[in-house]
Amino acid sequence: MTKQKPAPTAVPIHELIAGRWSPRAYSSEPVSREALHTVIEAARWAPSGYNLQPWRFLVFDRTADEAAFKRAFATLVPFNQQWNAPAPVLIAVMAHTLNAKGEVNRTAQYDAGAAALSLVLQAHALGLAAHQMSGFDVHAFRTEFALPNEVEPLSIISIGHYGDAEKLEPVLREREKAQRTRSAVGEVVYENTWKHPFKV
Ligand SMILES: Cc1cc2nc3c(=O)[nH]c(=O)nc-3n(C[C@H](O)[C@H](O)[C@H](O)COP(=O)(O)O)c2cc1C
Repeated sequence: MTKQKPAPTAVPIHELIAGRWSPRAYSSEPVSREALHTVIEAARWAPSGYNLQPWRFLVFDRTADEAAFKRAFATLVPFNQQWNAPAPVLIAVMAHTLNAKGEVNRTAQYDAGAAALSLVLQAHALGLAAHQMSGFDVHAFRTEFALPNEVEPLSIISIGHYGDAEKLEPVLREREKAQRTRSAVGEVVYENTWKHPFKV
């Protein structure tokens, strides 16, 4: 079981952030409603522009409603369906893209992403595995769940208990064990002028 895969960070950072990762080996053990409430509560307290809270979540708990879960699961791309087969919970993350005046909320997706990160960090804090996915059929999801036009589906997060990585097919098993990587700081963080790498 690969439960821990801490980021090899350049300097020490908080365990919650270094320790969160995107596992693919789930067990089929249900996630308690209490744990679900906790991760949703964490998302609810994310910051947002003008405190508009433009995130919307659609929860699919296999234990509570298997038929609805299957309808959401069916929108995942085949690759994601493969390793999510035992996952007990899917949470779709959406952005409500308009403000109260009907104007485009320029930070809706940014804010929904912040809420999604809060959710997965809280899942990690609870010892749960959580994995965000953009690999799903957005059009099919929109149609299947009759979303209004102003609501934009962004990702689906699977949540569950850690399973046995040895049961994954070989390529995924290797990925599950591989070290996590990131671009170097200077490649993505600049100082004073564009492309001028930030240095400590
Ligand atoms: C918006 C978003 C979409 C993602 N979509 C997928 C996906 O469809 N399938 C998948 O296996 N992983 C997906 N991932 C997981 C990323 O591949 C993963 O976060 C990245 O490789 C870094 O690994 P880490 O989260 O373990 O640090 C997605 C992550 C994010 C944030």
